[in-house]
Amino acid sequence: MARLESFDKLVSLSKRRGFIFQSSEIYGGINACYDYGPLGVELKRNVKQTWWNAMTREYDNIVGLDAAILMHPKVWEASGHVGGFTDPLVDCKKCKTRFREDTLPEENMTNKECPECGGELTDSRQFNLMFKTQMGAVEESASTIYLRPETAQGIFVNFPNVVDTSRQQIPFGIAQIGKAFRNEITPGNFIFRTREFEQMEMQFFVHPDESDEWFETWKERRKAFYDTIGIDPDNLRFHEHGPDELAHYARAAFDVEYKFPIGWSELEGIHNRSDFDLKQHAEFSGKNMGYRDPQTNQVYTPFIIETSAGCDRTTLAVMCEAYEEETLEDGSVRTVMHFHPRLAPIKVAILPLVKKGGLKELATEIKDDLKRHFNVFYDEKGAIGRRYRRMDEAGTPYCVTIDFDTLEDKAVTVRDRDSMDQIRVPIGELQAWLAERILIR
Ligand code: GAP
Repeated sequence: MARLESFDKLVSLSKRRGFIFQSSEIYGGINACYDYGPLGVELKRNVKQTWWNAMTREYDNIVGLDAAILMHPKVWEASGHVGGFTDPLVDCKKCKTRFREDTLPEENMTNKECPECGGELTDSRQFNLMFKTQMGAVEESASTIYLRPETAQGIFVNFPNVVDTSRQQIPFGIAQIGKAFRNEITPGNFIFRTREFEQMEMQFFVHPDESDEWFETWKERRKAFYDTIGIDPDNLRFHEHGPDELAHYARAAFDVEYKFPIGWSELEGIHNRSDFDLKQHAEFSGKNMGYRDPQTNQVYTPFIIETSAGCDRTTLAVMCEAYEEETLEDGSVRTVMHFHPRLAPIKVAILPLVKKGGLKELATEIKDDLKRHFNVFYDEKGAIGRRYRRMDEAGTPYCVTIDFDTLEDKAVTVRDRDSMDQIRVPIGELQAWLAERILIR
């Protein structure tokens, strides 16, 4: 299958079918901000639900959390973000374009010359990526707070609360999905790098002596996850960081990368964060962030194994993976999104061949029955071939057609999105037939 060569076709399919729109489009848009449309929101929710299930349903020792986006400003001092969450920034004095210094060719920095217009570049300065805002109505007395740049800190500061309330004992994990914000200097590549995005993070608290073993376990578990969302293993690669690549908090780090049209790029980071985070929060808050082992009474600061995935990036990878332009026998080309049925925004389309002769009524009855089980789409307008093509672009795995034979034999035609094969299925067996293929496969 030919792979996507750029994001352009995906951007236009997204707009055409309602996966992803430019934010505030009627005002000319806002750079690198996107809205998920009717199909996109279903797809993204399915990505999140699959991840949530893979964490909190699969493992008895992982619980969920939904922390506030706005946190006490001291959190970001303790975490190191106020002091160190920066990128080196240079401006062109002539055309005012901003660059991340580390992405510019070295000769431009040496000659201080802008690559776009030949203008002079400023010296580089550290630019903090956190969005600042004010909390409180009176500006003078309001305090500066930040939009969180990662969801992880909400988990760390709630560690004692979860220990006290959930009956979990180490080793255990806390999972969270939520928005994060970074004032990226060079956002772009569609939803790959944006300033507002969603993370799916899980922090796993372990005894320090067991952290290396758990790091290995989580590497394997996270590799396996991508299979459950239909990513071809050939399009995934795994990169272990060398000692000179490690972040200040990390003892070991491992990236999951996907072969995007822009090249291999990070989907997820897995880190052994040691006891850095809990010790920092203990120091800055003055609170006890330690753990007492109920069996041995030993008190210690747990190590944390973090798995941190981008939800939008995972959704983008799923869309790249699914996209195909298939040339049919008659020479025509159909665009089809081969989503894993678990992720498909619409699971079943109900298509009466025509509206007349009782077909509409019967199709509506079938739709009302199925919609209690799946996200169903009903469409009675236009030629059947056109309706199939529309569902191919939406990635709907099954189309159910109701025709005049249905009135006689009480069976429908089910068309498979990928093979385009059609078979007759009795109405009475339809729900079970679909469930077997959509929910279990
Ligand atoms: N708590 C660790 C942490 O936040 P990170 O590598 O900075 O680690 C984790 O971010 C994941 O979040 C990345 O692998 C990526 O998938 C996603 N991510 C980070 N910045 C992003 C951005 N500007 N736009 C979209 N996704 C982003």
